[in-house]
Amino acid sequence: MSRESLPDVGIEALAAHIPRYYLDLGTLARANGVDPAKYQVGLGCRRMAVPAPDEDPVVLAAGATARLFDAYRIDPANIGLLVVGTESGVDGAKPIAAYVHRMAGLPATCRAFDVQHACYGSTAALTIAADWVAGGRSAGRKALVVAADIARYDVGSPGEPTQGAGAVALLVGPEPRVLRLERHPEAVHAEEVMDFWRPHYRDSALVDGHYSLECYLHAAESCWRRYREGTRAGFPDFDFLLFHSPFPKMARKAHRRLFDAAMRDGDVPAEADPAADFERRVLPSLWANAEIGNAYTASLYLSLAGLLEHRAVRCAGARIGLFSYGSGSCAEFLAARVGDDEAAWRGRTGLHELLDARRELTHRTYLRFRKEQADLAHGGSLRPPLPHRGLAFCGTRDDRRVYRDAESTAAPVASDVGGDSPAAAAVAPRRTRRVRNGGQPAPAPPRRPC
Ligand code: CAA
Repeated sequence: MSRESLPDVGIEALAAHIPRYYLDLGTLARANGVDPAKYQVGLGCRRMAVPAPDEDPVVLAAGATARLFDAYRIDPANIGLLVVGTESGVDGAKPIAAYVHRMAGLPATCRAFDVQHACYGSTAALTIAADWVAGGRSAGRKALVVAADIARYDVGSPGEPTQGAGAVALLVGPEPRVLRLERHPEAVHAEEVMDFWRPHYRDSALVDGHYSLECYLHAAESCWRRYREGTRAGFPDFDFLLFHSPFPKMARKAHRRLFDAAMRDGDVPAEADPAADFERRVLPSLWANAEIGNAYTASLYLSLAGLLEHRAVRCAGARIGLFSYGSGSCAEFLAARVGDDEAAWRGRTGLHELLDARRELTHRTYLRFRKEQADLAHGGSLRPPLPHRGLAFCGTRDDRRVYRDAESTAAPVASDVGGDSPAAAAVAPRRTRRVRNGGQPAPAPPRRPC
């Protein structure tokens, strides 16, 4: 079948948000008594983003949305659908989308909900949004898709060096200046497997590590086969291939699996060099993942942001393939074309600016942040956020999450009521007082490394 394009549907704008701190993987390796080369070369990771205690998944999601609206001058009143893809839900019932809806100032007519299927949730959200636009229900409005996650494994476990966190916000509409999604027969693979999971009673994930790699690779090959059978398109038709990247080496393994299949199919000549092909087609999208670590649903779209913002590689007009994998499992391969005008994204995703502004943590502070984050998840944990400007998670009071809104350095806002509703006016001052009177002097600004 065809590589006919869906008329005018895809990503119009893209922006990222990541935590303010990172841990160097060499530091983690030394603390764990492991050869640093295992993490840095064996897994391909340089640093991992570490959320501060006041950076929860809501803060990451709302931060990416605020950056998107700012960088592209988007009017929230023009958004008709918000879908958050995440596996880091903060509540068994209330979606992260509900918080983002208020924080971003979206209208009451904008539908908002979360989608969960491990790291695949964001791609499910993107396809829902694209169908909403293409199906004519949008009535001239745009869709907002946000991928946001915090990847956390037990301290000292094999998964620990693949932790990370981040969010990406995508504006989906009929003028896809960033990425136009192509129409092709679905290339999906779904199968129940127990490769990676997080029971409700745990705040860190469990994983059958090497089995999870096999599940991922099997799903990648299966999706690729379906795509190829449905379209007759082959490996050489793509300028770039982007893979869900729990750690950069995984993308290398996935590329090799598809490359070998393409060689068997005669799509690439027998003498072709898989390493050179990887460096050309995949590597340019992985530099940000090596800096941030796994951000689950956001990882694939951080790869996209990385490719778009690569300082030495130009991708305007390029044809790209995106492989999305969610453990458990559901996976999908999508073909798309990057827009012709790089002014639509260059310097607007926030990626370089965010990475440059990060502060390095010591291993000790990383452990402290983890503990404080776990403490904040409990009832009655309300406390002042760290001293910085911007949106912050302050803990819970009366079993409700409390956030300090973006423009403030002091006053937290009750998360359960709209900012200017009568109920908010009634409770916000009291909540402000409670946080300010927490009895704790503001901690000193962190030094480098903290
Ligand atoms: N110098 C250089 N390389 C070294 C080394 C050294 N001193 N020591 C080991 N290595 C290499 C190994 O050879 C290996 O490379 P290859 O796979 O190319 O052979 C690599 O470093 C890793 O070594 P191990 O396999 O021994 O590492 P491990 O068993 O301790 O852990 C892991 C690896 C299983 C991936 C673990 O990090 C993990 O469980 N990660 C989380 C699960 C995950 O990310 N799964 C991915 C698929 S599922 C998914 O994608 C969804 C998701 O987001 C989680």
